[in-house]
Amino acid sequence: MKNSHSSRREFVKKSGSVALATGLGFSILSAKGNNRHINADTLKVGLIGCGGRGTGAALQAISADPNVVLTAMGDAFRDKLDKSYQSLMDEVPDKIKVDEGNKFVGFDAYKSVLDSDVDVVLLTTPPAFRPGHLAAAIEKGKHVFCEKPVAVDAPGVRSVIESAKKAKAKGLALMSGFCWRHDVPKIDTYSRLLDGAIGDIHTVYNTYNTEALWSVDRQPDWTDMEYTMRNWLYYTWLSGDHITEQAIHSIDLMSWAMGDQLPVSATGTGGRQSRIEEKYGNIYDHFAIVYEYADGKKGFHFSRQQSGCSRDYGVDMWGDQGRCSIDVSNKHEILGKENWNWDGKKSNMYQNEHNTLFASIRNGKPFYDGIRMANSTMLGIWGRMVAYTGRTLTWDEALNSNETLGPSLADYNWDLKWPMKEVAMPGITKFV
Ligand SMILES: NC(=O)c1ccc[n+]([C@@H]2O[C@H](COP(=O)([O-])OP(=O)(O)OC[C@H]3O[C@@H](n4cnc5c(N)ncnc54)[C@H](O)[C@@H]3O)[C@@H](O)[C@H]2O)c1
Repeated sequence: MKNSHSSRREFVKKSGSVALATGLGFSILSAKGNNRHINADTLKVGLIGCGGRGTGAALQAISADPNVVLTAMGDAFRDKLDKSYQSLMDEVPDKIKVDEGNKFVGFDAYKSVLDSDVDVVLLTTPPAFRPGHLAAAIEKGKHVFCEKPVAVDAPGVRSVIESAKKAKAKGLALMSGFCWRHDVPKIDTYSRLLDGAIGDIHTVYNTYNTEALWSVDRQPDWTDMEYTMRNWLYYTWLSGDHITEQAIHSIDLMSWAMGDQLPVSATGTGGRQSRIEEKYGNIYDHFAIVYEYADGKKGFHFSRQQSGCSRDYGVDMWGDQGRCSIDVSNKHEILGKENWNWDGKKSNMYQNEHNTLFASIRNGKPFYDGIRMANSTMLGIWGRMVAYTGRTLTWDEALNSNETLGPSLADYNWDLKWPMKEVAMPGITKFV
């Protein structure tokens, strides 16, 4: 077997038929240890951002194909990296080939992972870092899985669009973590909807109403930056606020129902009622946004992170010949030309996305949702903008905003004191 990076890449292109013939949906068990079915070459994966989702994504990546191994890990914090490494070693030791010298810590860890001869990188840090990490990964010619959202502000989205175009031109796979697009019940339901099962869809209502999330207490030896980074969810400049960071999944389902057509204007409101202490930074705890499409269609979004309230996340769609409802209980129901309920076999959407990604790399037809992931992210950022300012904004206004929320990638350091903006006040907070 040739070992050089370029010869592996050549092999990857040629070896598609082998990978397809051996099947795509390898379980973690079949991935463990049994080398008889291993393909002639190995795909090396690097993980950048070793938290909860990154660790899961790494597990799914190395389980997607019998010949994928994790060879490099990077995180801002050593303890996070060590915890992730240990839990991966506990699960699939045969596929974790991360030497001590390939564990990188700090804000520049991403550079070292990218320089470590990996073929595929998993970008799973908080979203503020995504545009910079993605640009660097594409520059280095890596296939990418990147978690949603892919940016926290419009300049970040525009950077991601540029990177996505470069990835396409270089023939690199670029997959986002908009995982509901890889959920079998939703794929079945949406294929019927987009085939006209309820006629022309004119109204979509989507929700992400959930509990308050975790936070960690400040330790005496932490700088402001360390404390903020460890509680990144609560700072708009790091997370994009929860409409962008979490509720975006439901907004993406709205967009899918509308054929990924972009709305022309958005109006909204939001605020913080139950999560007002200083430790909750400057994000809101609820949003309500109306997206208006050029042809008069409307999408209504409602999200909250408030404990003790009813939970629901899902999407209801009305067409001129029926309606469809998808909810948190895994109901996928169409009442239309023909009534239909999804009752198939469940599968893990997180695993599905990696199976698809790695198969696409193997067969030389790299998966690509670069522009779509940027647009769906922007829908969330736009919702935040209209709620924070109280202004109705067009898509063009929002996308062309020049407001950069955080420091540039090169300026991050543990002593940096990045000023947190005041909690936004509709009517007072200016659109920039
Ligand atoms: N698709 C989904 O269903 C889903 C679910 C959960 C999270 N996510 C997304 O995944 C991303 C990560 O979320 P999480 O829940 O894993 O958060 P997390 O806090 O558990 O993990 C983030 C990790 O990134 C590290 N990190 C922070 N800045 C870094 C930097 N500059 N360089 C390297 N490492 C850095 C942190 O130390 C941490 O270990 C977010 O964008 C989140 O929205 C997606």
